[in-house]
Amino acid sequence: MQIGILGTGVVGQTLAAALAEKGHTVTIGTRDPAETMARETAKPPARVSFRDWQRSNPTVKLATFADAVRSADVAINATSGVGAMSALEDAGAEALGETILIDASNPLDFSKGMPPTLSVCNTDSLGEQLQKAFPRVRLVKTLNTITASLMVNPGAVNEGDHTLFLCGNDADAKETVKRWLGEWFGWREIVDLGDVTASRGMEMYLPLWLRTWGAVGSPMFNVKIVR
Ligand SMILES: NC(=O)c1ccc[n+]([C@@H]2O[C@H](COP(=O)([O-])OP(=O)(O)OC[C@H]3O[C@@H](n4cnc5c(N)ncnc54)[C@H](OP(=O)(O)O)[C@@H]3O)[C@@H](O)[C@H]2O)c1
Repeated sequence: MQIGILGTGVVGQTLAAALAEKGHTVTIGTRDPAETMARETAKPPARVSFRDWQRSNPTVKLATFADAVRSADVAINATSGVGAMSALEDAGAEALGETILIDASNPLDFSKGMPPTLSVCNTDSLGEQLQKAFPRVRLVKTLNTITASLMVNPGAVNEGDHTLFLCGNDADAKETVKRWLGEWFGWREIVDLGDVTASRGMEMYLPLWLRTWGAVGSPMFNVKIVR
């Protein structure tokens, strides 16, 4: 498959490396490819600069946001919460077309330090705002409630027996993404929370996720729905 990932951070890098390893053609999108390649230091939480990361992942191409998604079979949004709308605007409605957009972003605002606040919540969400701004795109919100390395390796926690959430307006797109997440990374339990307004709860889970990280001392955890 041809996969366009918006975002050069740890999520974009982690997903790109795992998908390229499985033989997919992956292009990562960034605001300014030359500027991104010129960066000498990592932007936390990424551990290495993008240039150093790409040396170890030479098959992954770097392009503008628009070029990364233009001919992609699926696009993945791994941009920062404050930058997501602008990144999608840069990609453009025409290049995005009716693509499935897996949205892993969270509306975290770090401008006042730690802990971050949510830039949108309660009666709206980033997932909804993106879907509203790009109505032809088939947005599926998922992966935003776990740390990057767990996204691509659910087996690293509790032998993969834990729950991933997903939501969106397009039933076919959600079924397709569920299947891909199983095939790509081995996700077994994916709970469909309904239409895109469920992004509110998935994003408002982040303050709890962050406190749990602090309490257990590692980001390698997840929740499991038991009945
Ligand atoms: N870190 C995790 O483990 C984790 C887990 C679950 C969900 N998430 C969510 O996944 C997303 C990505 O997280 P991350 O830690 O990998 O990276 P990040 O540092 O949150 O985001 C990096 C990306 O955002 C882009 N960006 C930043 N400001 C922008 C702006 N004003 N306009 C356009 N693009 C902008 C950057 O573009 P350039 O490439 O041009 O610099 C870069 O590609 C976030 O929404 C985060 O909340 C993260």
